[in-house]
Amino acid sequence: MNAHVRAIERVGEKRGLEVVGIIGGYSGMIAGQFEVLDRIRTANIVDRGGTVLKTSRCPEFMEPEGRALAAAQLRSHGIDGVIACGGDGTFHGAHFLHQEHGIPIVGTPGTIDNDLWGTDVTIGYDTAINTAAQAIDKIRDTADSHGRIFFIEVMGRHAGFIAMDVGVACGAEFIAVPETMTDIEVLYQRIVAQGLDKRTIVIVGEGDEIGGALVMSKLMEERYGLSSKVSILGHIQRGGSPTVRDRVLAARLGAEAVDALLEGHTDVMIGIHNDETAYVPLSITWEQRKSVPAYLVELATQLV
Ligand code: F6P
Repeated sequence: MNAHVRAIERVGEKRGLEVVGIIGGYSGMIAGQFEVLDRIRTANIVDRGGTVLKTSRCPEFMEPEGRALAAAQLRSHGIDGVIACGGDGTFHGAHFLHQEHGIPIVGTPGTIDNDLWGTDVTIGYDTAINTAAQAIDKIRDTADSHGRIFFIEVMGRHAGFIAMDVGVACGAEFIAVPETMTDIEVLYQRIVAQGLDKRTIVIVGEGDEIGGALVMSKLMEERYGLSSKVSILGHIQRGGSPTVRDRVLAARLGAEAVDALLEGHTDVMIGIHNDETAYVPLSITWEQRKSVPAYLVELATQLV
């Protein structure tokens, strides 16, 4: 996010624009919390996780009244266009702000879940999977030394991208994702085949229909008397210094977003498809569903 903010400020300045940061996401837009950005404000942030602009979940923005307040604030502060970086919720808000009030707005994909249709990559994903993989490698040391079974839960509310990628990268014995039905009996047989006294790592995407790593571990105990350990990686996946790949992606999308606004694009997400810039209507990003690639699901089964 910070590499993105920095790029937008730098490129905006080069194009002769004044770039304003909205402090605290849509809540800040409604409250009129704006801050003019410059080179100094955006210096030394490129390596930092989180966002210096702060952010929020904003239920008020889901209502037309909230968006009307936000539009009035933008107008009274002379803001001519908005770049909104986020996922599904951010894009819904951006789309309706444009539809109802004609505010020019482009979205950029920023979510660790990588689940936005119309872009191959999202800002934050690469950092999240590398953080998760490092954590899983560490857990493997105990799992291997003690011959234990671990259920490790990774994020991904509706999609299994993180789970599939880190599962394959970390040599997991089983990967449970929301895109495929998890068969508990098949999972148990897999654990038995591995050897009940041997290391088994099961990666559970938090959106899996069984209900997460804790539920799965309990189910295994109740049904098969299987004892296991649970580790929920949680928010460590959403922070930390971003990878080089993420920083470059964030910078590229920031620059593209500034130019897209200047060229008159609006109500679209600026994404990357086959290494080219993609302009995708915001509503399509949630109407279509992006699923984990079938080759990866197949590959995972070949590797165990
Ligand atoms: O949507 C991105 C995401 O990281 C999900 O994977 C996760 O379920 C959620 O955000 C966590 O959000 P919060 O920090 O609001 O609990």
